[in-house]
Amino acid sequence: MRAARSRTYQIVLDQIRKHRSTIILSVLLVMIATALDVVTPLFFRFLIDHAVPSRDVGLIAGVVAGTILLPVISAALTYLEGHQRNKIGTSVTQALRQEAFEHMLSMRMDHLERLNSGELLQLVTRTCGEIGDVFVGDSLLPTISRSFFLIGNVIAMFAINGRLALATMLAVPTLYIFSRLIRRRMLRLDEQFYAMVEAGSSLAHETLAGLRTIRAANGQQRAAGLWRGWAERYRQSKLAISALHGFYVDTLSSFLNNLVLAIVLGLGVFEILGNRMSIGTLIAFLVYAPRVLSSLQQFTRTQLGVSTMRVAAAKLDAHFALPPERSDGAMLPVSPASQSGVKIAFEDISFHYGRGEAGVNHLSFEVSPGEFVGIVGPSGGGKSTIFDLLTGFYDPDEGRIRIDDMDMQRLSLLAIREAMGVVFQDTFLWNMSLLENLTYPRDAADIPDVGWAVRAAALEPFIAGLPDGLKTVVGERGHSLSGGERQRIAVARAVLRNPRLLLLDEATSALDPLTEEKLRHALESLRQGRTTIVIAHRLATIAQADRIIVIDKGRVVEQGTPADLLAQRGLYYAFYQAQKLD
Ligand SMILES: Nc1ncnc2c1ncn2[C@@H]1O[C@H](COP(=O)(O)OP(=O)(O)OP(=O)(O)O)[C@@H](O)[C@H]1O
Ligand SMILES: [Mg+2]
Repeated sequence: MRAARSRTYQIVLDQIRKHRSTIILSVLLVMIATALDVVTPLFFRFLIDHAVPSRDVGLIAGVVAGTILLPVISAALTYLEGHQRNKIGTSVTQALRQEAFEHMLSMRMDHLERLNSGELLQLVTRTCGEIGDVFVGDSLLPTISRSFFLIGNVIAMFAINGRLALATMLAVPTLYIFSRLIRRRMLRLDEQFYAMVEAGSSLAHETLAGLRTIRAANGQQRAAGLWRGWAERYRQSKLAISALHGFYVDTLSSFLNNLVLAIVLGLGVFEILGNRMSIGTLIAFLVYAPRVLSSLQQFTRTQLGVSTMRVAAAKLDAHFALPPERSDGAMLPVSPASQSGVKIAFEDISFHYGRGEAGVNHLSFEVSPGEFVGIVGPSGGGKSTIFDLLTGFYDPDEGRIRIDDMDMQRLSLLAIREAMGVVFQDTFLWNMSLLENLTYPRDAADIPDVGWAVRAAALEPFIAGLPDGLKTVVGERGHSLSGGERQRIAVARAVLRNPRLLLLDEATSALDPLTEEKLRHALESLRQGRTTIVIAHRLATIAQADRIIVIDKGRVVEQGTPADLLAQRGLYYAFYQAQKLD
């Protein structure tokens, strides 16, 4: 069966197995509740056929009390059973959510970037609930209790009148045929609806992220129009599903209910007139028959639930099927060189993002331990791509990257990343305090001194001016800070890791020249004991680099000291000329 290979089903089964004793308990509760329910109509029969004719008030009162008490006890047991069921359903949801989320955290970057954030959001929240809470809790497990209920009531019916019982069972094939008819359509509608929900989530997500751009461009009308279009499609989709459910659950079941009651009443009257059945038995039957019917309907509803669940499980399985980053590999050797930063070698590296020629082509260069290298070059030339490869976000298509003379593919990503501090071109901050942002992901309490990093990143005057100092919360993505403040915090965060490899990608582009100069000075002492690679468009940023590498179209086109490069009169020289103010 397909289920054997599905990670989703595996997680569901594991949870169900783990809750075996809860399931046994709820089955026991159901069995007792069912027994009570099945017996109650027999009390009616006894009341009408024996107690009432006997005119024994005590007996009548006793039987009536019984017909009230039994359902109450049964309801209490059913309530307890429902609670056990919910426990299982919610823990299935929880387990799925955790796995789906952790898979997202470890997924390879090339796959992750192709996903849509709205879809991903749906997946780790709603989709998991659809399987755990809704299917397992409200559909699959109730089927177990419904089975007992159905069997109990069917046996009781056959026990008191076989012919009438058979007539009632005529409803079975009718229900079956109808459920087969709508199942396929239901699956299609469910798939459509799912896609609709995902689209809404993506749209809301993107709109929120772009709110400033939308307003500044007077794009509200367009944004509102997109939302209106989505809301209308959602409504149509929801209506179609409700219509089908409504037809099936309300119209069809009420029709069948009345049909069966009519048959039971009609046949029952004949039986009574023929002295083959008592009035009490007919009354009991009028209780049993609708119960049997509603249990049967519950089963077909479960079948519909299966179709929704399948759509959700297929989504989750597709997510789980996306490969994670490699999690094995050797640690970095602690060599004498490690005291002075890592050694890096790009050996004929080609890598393309999968969109034409974008990326790097036959790129080769070396960086010695402790060296400070600046990288410049035209926009889109492949500079940031070098960092994407060094962080192990992407693997080269060809060539080899060596770190401390070891093939990077054989090194653990954890070890590589542990050794580096990176500031990406687009800095990211958490909606937490400045201090927590600086020490992320470690606990602020574990890091006694952040002062040196704050000073190095030229943040001191800024933080001194804040009423709450380092405790100031920076807002989502750091929106309460200026661009330059955000960058400096990212720099402080990177150096606070005391990395052997410091990577800065346009990390000071938003700073005024004077602040940048302070940072440059700090970098002079910070570079001790580590390898530093700084990507910059502003040549002053990398003026004191040991060496500058010029990257264009994914290759090294020039390299050397700033003075060498000026003498070469190539691309670097052209950049230099263009940045001169005179
Ligand atoms: N995630 C990605 N998916 C597809 N293409 C990408 C991706 N990231 C970068 N590219 C493409 O790869 C090429 C090199 O990009 P890269 O970011 O390395 O340039 P860069 O030299 O850092 O430019 P800039 O100076 O503008 O930051 C560009 O053409 C870019 O469009
Ligand atoms: Mg870049």
